[in-house]
Amino acid sequence: MDILTTKNLCKTYGKGEIKVEAVKNVSFSVAKGQFVAIVGPSGSGKSTLLHLLGALDTPTSGKVFLDGKDIFIMKEKELSVFRRRNIGFIFQA
Ligand SMILES: Nc1ncnc2c1ncn2[C@@H]1O[C@H](COP(=O)(O)OP(=O)(O)O)[C@@H](O)[C@H]1O
Ligand SMILES: [Mg+2]
Repeated sequence: MDILTTKNLCKTYGKGEIKVEAVKNVSFSVAKGQFVAIVGPSGSGKSTLLHLLGALDTPTSGKVFLDGKDIFIMKEKELSVFRRRNIGFIFQA
């Protein structure tokens, strides 16, 4: 059973000449109980991806399903409660 699924997840910062496609068409699934590490060089989009998975930031497009629930169709208040009850996040800083 998949606890986490992303579909065509994208996060773009800025526009025009300063546009940065930090996360581009990311699709993957994580099974319940599975441990996953995201590895890549500095600036490759790891933090941006984690912020999207943890519902701390919203994607430009694409979806995140946690335990089968499409988290970004929730209203901010509902999402706050979901985040508090279901997600743990340790910030790099
Ligand atoms: N808030 C932001 N505004 C504009 N660009 C950003 C922002 N956050 C990250 N970026 C850019 O997005 C890219 C990915 O950054 P980041 O997700 O922090 O990568 P990593 O965690 O792998 O080092 C980098 O080019 C970074 O400069
Ligand atoms: Mg980072």
